[in-house]
Amino acid sequence: MSTVYLDGRFMPIAEAKVSAMDRGFLYGDGAYEVIPVYSRRPFRLAEHLARLRHTLEGIRLANPHDDAEWVRLIGEIVARNEGDDQSVYLQITRGADTKRNHAFPARVAPTVYILSEPLVTPPPAQREQGIATISAPDVRWLRCDLKAISLLANCLLRQQAVDAGCVETILFRDGFMTEGAASNIFAVRDGVLLAPPKNNLMLPGITYDVVLELAAAHGLPVEVRPVAEAEARGADELWMTSSTKEVLPIVLLDGRPVGDGRPGPVFARMYAWYQDFKRTVMRAGE
Ligand code: PDD
Repeated sequence: MSTVYLDGRFMPIAEAKVSAMDRGFLYGDGAYEVIPVYSRRPFRLAEHLARLRHTLEGIRLANPHDDAEWVRLIGEIVARNEGDDQSVYLQITRGADTKRNHAFPARVAPTVYILSEPLVTPPPAQREQGIATISAPDVRWLRCDLKAISLLANCLLRQQAVDAGCVETILFRDGFMTEGAASNIFAVRDGVLLAPPKNNLMLPGITYDVVLELAAAHGLPVEVRPVAEAEARGADELWMTSSTKEVLPIVLLDGRPVGDGRPGPVFARMYAWYQDFKRTVMRAGE
């Protein structure tokens, strides 16, 4: 049974209980992170902790730990769980009040929860054949840069994809592509990698950064700029990225083929660079 951390103690997951008055439960009032662990080394932990600080500041929740303590707690969770490759989930909520009240309680300890699950990367078929997606209007709020636990819109949007037999929903807002329901999306046109710019309309993905760094290191032309819906729909290639999906080629959007309907040559190069980076850098620790 997996071991989790809850409010200062490590325990078997079956023993982990939180109050029914917890604001995470009542309002989705909290922040989270998902950190991939390769060969027992958390990948880009400093960057994940920086994004966590950004989220906590954005939702006005004091960070319960300094980075050194987070590093220690996450290290303990990784050590106490099985498997060299893990996905560490951490969540901080505004804690449990005595009564229901939208405004923040005056003095309440936050609830801190850390969970490890096996890191399951996508099946080879998804990489070899590509994945199907649908599109939807981006109906989320205007702080999509915050990794907040209130994910109802994201859940509804991802479920729309699953209901259609697809893997992801690509979101468009005001004529531009923002990201996926739980991933970042890239386009390739005429050999140039197009990436929507980081702003309040998308989550600044850690995998997104890796893809842009690999492109720069290998001389792949990149344009970080708003990607119009028509450009995305007419792209030669589309990719989705996240800590758990890594990089996946999208071959269908709303039932229509992306490019020639097969994973593209630029994806093949990026995938090879990513796997090489994983072997030489992620597994070795940076
Ligand atoms: N989600 N955009 C959204 C809306 C996401 O939920 C995620 C990741 C990403 C990619 O970020 P990163 O490369 O740092 O994983 C982009 C995680 C995996 C989740 O919610 O489970």
